Amino acid sequence: MKAIEVVGGGRLQLVEVAEPKRSAGDVIVKVAATSVNRGEIYRARASKPGFRPGWDFAGVVHEAADRGGPVVGTRVVGFLTSAAWAETIAVPKAHLTALPDSISFADAATIPVAGLTALGAVEAGGSLLGRSVLVTGATGGVGHFAVQLAALAGAQVTALVRRPAAEVAEMLAMAKHIVGGPDAIAQAEKLGPFDHIVETLGGETLSRALGMLSYSGKCMVIGVTDTPNTTFDAEKFFMTGNAAMQAYVLFRKNSVETHGEALARVLLLAADGALPLHVGYDRPWTEIDQVADDLLSRSFLGKAILRVG
Ligand SMILES: NC(=O)c1ccc[n+]([C@@H]2O[C@H](COP(=O)([O-])OP(=O)(O)OC[C@H]3O[C@@H](n4cnc5c(N)ncnc54)[C@H](OP(=O)(O)O)[C@@H]3O)[C@@H](O)[C@H]2O)c1
Repeated sequence: MKAIEVVGGGRLQLVEVAEPKRSAGDVIVKVAATSVNRGEIYRARASKPGFRPGWDFAGVVHEAADRGGPVVGTRVVGFLTSAAWAETIAVPKAHLTALPDSISFADAATIPVAGLTALGAVEAGGSLLGRSVLVTGATGGVGHFAVQLAALAGAQVTALVRRPAAEVAEMLAMAKHIVGGPDAIAQAEKLGPFDHIVETLGGETLSRALGMLSYSGKCMVIGVTDTPNTTFDAEKFFMTGNAAMQAYVLFRKNSVETHGEALARVLLLAADGALPLHVGYDRPWTEIDQVADDLLSRSFLGKAILRVG
């Protein structure tokens, strides 16, 4: 069968590999679509030849687990911590969930890592009903889900983007405010303080975000797309009174077993039409290396998906 593998220089290519081996709790899935996340491209570009990346997948159950889990023929969506970019994969049954007929494989593939990361970062804010939330990098995979999930939770969301706000108004229609362009952070400061911040960029954005928190506000640090190094005004931060900065990693120890259940909740919202899914870039998987470059240079908005086979 075919799979995507790292070749020399961190580049990605379709190669011939062995069929996956299934253990008792695994389901064998024939993959129809996968998505591409920034984090896995960083990892792939830094990996030695032979590494097989790939987190998200959507497809059909080909062999069921020995006990429980979806039966053969069930449409499913889920994630692996690597090697999901393949025609056929072996997946622990807690890492996938049934896919409603109303959601296409392509749309479903956008959800797992970006949607679950956004869900975790948004839910870390507790009840957001009537609260003010800031999401940075809001046109990206995680950011877009975070805006929508926070709005669905009843928050008034400010989406911070680097493009002109008018360019992304349709995509971010669930945000109350969109701040964009070179003075986006200054515009956000005027709309603060914020009870909850989902921060994906690092650097200057994180630095200024820490000064925009309300008394008990929380800033979730989930990414460093701009830069990992930040200096900040510690006095302004502690003078908020009780604000906090918190780390979030989706694939942390002992956490993945609950992700299948969380994925089912996100799917319910999507199947209902309450959570619009947005494929920004739809390419055959043979083009993975170019898609990876296009993702890093952000030549499109939202999520990229790859059609398998
Ligand atoms: N903690 C976790 O478990 C976890 C899980 C998933 C992702 N992440 C991290 O979260 C971040 C976002 O991931 P993603 O998959 O959503 O990435 P993505 O789809 O590539 O989105 C990146 C976003 O950042 C913006 N951006 C890119 N470079 C920028 C810069 N120099 N200054 C300001 N904005 C910039 C993009 O704006 P444009 O659209 O205008 O280009 C876009 O909104 C990444 O750092 C990723 O590693 C962490």
